[in-house]
Amino acid sequence: MSLDLRDVVLTYPDGDRRLTALDHVGLTVAAGEFAAVAGPSGSGKSSLLAVAATLVAPDSGRVAVAGRDVTGASRAVRTRVRRDLVGIVFQQPNLLPSLTALDQLRVMAHLAGGSPRAATDRARALLAAVGLDGAAHRRPHALSGGERQRVNIARALMNDPAVLLVDEPTSALDRERGASVTALLASLTRDRGLATLMVTHDSAALTAADRVLHIDDGRLAPAG
Ligand SMILES: Nc1ncnc2c1ncn2[C@@H]1O[C@H](COP(=O)(O)OP(=O)(O)OP(=O)(O)O)[C@@H](O)[C@H]1O
Ligand SMILES: [Mg+2]
Repeated sequence: MSLDLRDVVLTYPDGDRRLTALDHVGLTVAAGEFAAVAGPSGSGKSSLLAVAATLVAPDSGRVAVAGRDVTGASRAVRTRVRRDLVGIVFQQPNLLPSLTALDQLRVMAHLAGGSPRAATDRARALLAAVGLDGAAHRRPHALSGGERQRVNIARALMNDPAVLLVDEPTSALDRERGASVTALLASLTRDRGLATLMVTHDSAALTAADRVLHIDDGRLAPAG
């Protein structure tokens, strides 16, 4: 189970022209692999994740998530693929202020329509996996930035995804907390056989990755 993008082109309207955000991008991330894409602001990182997440359909090229080719798929099919196979960690945790860490996770299962008991068990296990067993009943204001990002990551794993997509997970963290979050992503990737794709402009975040690529002006190339 992996993530596979082939010859992807994505443009946005830009006045009377089009801006090319992804310029013939090809990328395969294998199950159990932690790939990182680094690049400056505006280089196309979030666009890459949006396409990989099936949130945005590219102008051309192919996208396959865990063996499902979603190229040309309807919105409903893409939504199902996303719900069943993709975990997304957005740059901003977007945690609900009134919910405890445990409930941030349980609400995901509620939306997907699972049994509440199973959801609670899974949420507790995931909080433990990200090192937050003791913080299950704390609300976001009582969590540090690094802890909030851990809740954010645990929440993205509630649907047991094959593919984990992570946007700038360290941007709000100091170096030490950033390193511990990327180390966590590496170990979750290995232990759960995830195909993980992280995008970042933080070069310190790259050391935990198995493979680093660079994006500039929508063009992807191996780092180096
Ligand atoms: N919805 C949109 N409409 C038009 N242009 C867009 C849209 N989203 C992004 N862009 C443009 O596409 C290019 C790539 O944007 P993208 O958000 O992918 O960059 P990024 O690498 O994630 O940047 P950052 O590091 O600042 O988050 C930029 O030039 C941006 O201005
Ligand atoms: Mg971005």
